[in-house]
Amino acid sequence: MQAAVAGMIMSRSSRGISSCLLFIISLALLVLCSQLQLAIARAQYHEFVIKEAAVTRLCRKHSIMTVNGQFPGPAVEMSEGDSLIVRVINRGSYNVTVHWHGVRQMRTGWSDGPEYVTQCPIRPGRSYTYRFTVAGQEGTLWWHAHSSWLRATVHGALVVRPRAGVSAYPFNAGKPPAREIPILLGEWWDMNPIDVVRTATRTGAAPNISDALTVNGQPGDLYKCSSKDTATFPVKSGETNLLRFINAALNTELFVSLAGHTMTVVGADASYTKPYSTSVLMIAPGQTTDVLVTFDQPPGRYYLAARAYASAQGVPFDNSTTTAIFDYGATSSSRSSPAMPTLPAYNDTATATTFTTSLRGLRKAEMPSRVDENLFFTVGVGLFNCSRGAQSCGGPNNTRFAASINNVSFVLPSTVSILQAHYGGAQGVFTADFPANPPLQFDYTAQNVSRALWQPVPGTKVYRLKYGAAVQLVLQGTNIFAAENHPIHIHGYDFYILAEGFGNFNAATDTAKFNLDDPPMRNTVGVPVNGWAVIRFVADNPGVWLMHCHLDVHITWGLAMAFLVEDGVGELQSLEAPPPDLPLC
Ligand code: C2O
Repeated sequence: MQAAVAGMIMSRSSRGISSCLLFIISLALLVLCSQLQLAIARAQYHEFVIKEAAVTRLCRKHSIMTVNGQFPGPAVEMSEGDSLIVRVINRGSYNVTVHWHGVRQMRTGWSDGPEYVTQCPIRPGRSYTYRFTVAGQEGTLWWHAHSSWLRATVHGALVVRPRAGVSAYPFNAGKPPAREIPILLGEWWDMNPIDVVRTATRTGAAPNISDALTVNGQPGDLYKCSSKDTATFPVKSGETNLLRFINAALNTELFVSLAGHTMTVVGADASYTKPYSTSVLMIAPGQTTDVLVTFDQPPGRYYLAARAYASAQGVPFDNSTTTAIFDYGATSSSRSSPAMPTLPAYNDTATATTFTTSLRGLRKAEMPSRVDENLFFTVGVGLFNCSRGAQSCGGPNNTRFAASINNVSFVLPSTVSILQAHYGGAQGVFTADFPANPPLQFDYTAQNVSRALWQPVPGTKVYRLKYGAAVQLVLQGTNIFAAENHPIHIHGYDFYILAEGFGNFNAATDTAKFNLDDPPMRNTVGVPVNGWAVIRFVADNPGVWLMHCHLDVHITWGLAMAFLVEDGVGELQSLEAPPPDLPLC
């Protein structure tokens, strides 16, 4: 009897244990499942309708080109590993393409977007669907039109968060910050920006400078008729927020500062950096900078302000200042004007240099020690002599403005994209003879570069790279016409910035300055004014990839070239087939 009772107790308790175990197991499974679900990459579908919209800026009504009627355009938010399917429908009156700035586009060059490089433009009334995956990149990227100067108003943020259950922010103890605020810095013209560039292309003169700088599409308190629409960011006392800065301005590098607050940079161009605390950022067009800010000052209103870093001497620039307001619980009594930060002088190259050279990669760099391709490219502006009869020559001393890399002024094809010509084997669209070195060696940064060297040669040339080649590229600024800091962007790649300096790059002495340990990884490097930068990347993404100055005035003048990266072995090292809806020229 006792034994029976004991047995009953035993079995009851063992049943208890097993059901408890079952419960724990199913709980664990549930957690695992939800984690797995989060970890499973997703595909997002978006529709981008390119259309005109009415806006009022600087006291006047304007009709501007937008995506879905929004300016800036819609922010796309995703997790690392997700795919995007974006159908772009052109209901505007211009040809358009959309570029996903900074997205590596592994094997999906057809979705990269630069017109006549990877695709023909989407004609008015037509559509094209971009399909790609964002893998191995986290942080802030953006998208913009890559057709004429449409990107002035056709642009938006592309936010890539760590994938839950797989990775986490490498700051803030891995916790997502309380708020994440995309901040798009832009440039506004009272004239239609397409007319601005068309006029310049017709006359050969420099295009008009912009009429305002903007934060999230708004000029801010320091411009006429703009105060009531100043961008305002409500924040909470004591909170640490992540500000995602994007320089979407066409032609202006920017200093950015926030009154009373230190900014801690934690990422740039969707690559993490070692935390770097500063009171001022320098962001060139094309670049992004992620910063943490703790709102630990007396509750109130604080100006975020941005204005030009204008490195070229004697070249006109927009010298206005855009502002936005960070507002934490200002009481009515403290509704006086917000505190204003001090910004560096327009030509403060020392501050710009301190900022860019203070950025370090968060982790140790992963790059081969070998270099297969040692390239040296001069970058700068120039002038075409006016010999070709009918052309109008509104540039200095009867010339037309030009710009070049290794003296080749890039010309886009018009009947088919370079990528299509490469894939289909079409002849006569481009030549693969882009020079690895400048055609002539000279003192690139001399006070007076001989006028005989000011005239580039137009051409559609690519530089061919074997799949997997380790590439080192010296970008050497020139002092032709006017030296300037050039933000050089490479499509389809991130690269390490090993070193930068002023004057002419000297391999014998400057190689020792290379940071092979923790160089920053970016997709756009500001080549110092009258100086150089050295970058490295491995050509592991087959396709045709544009490299250009992200000042649109310079790309218009030809400061661009393209890398043609050959297929490797097998499908996974080869460019995908073109999609059936690829637009025709
Ligand atoms: Cu953000 Cu070729 O551009």
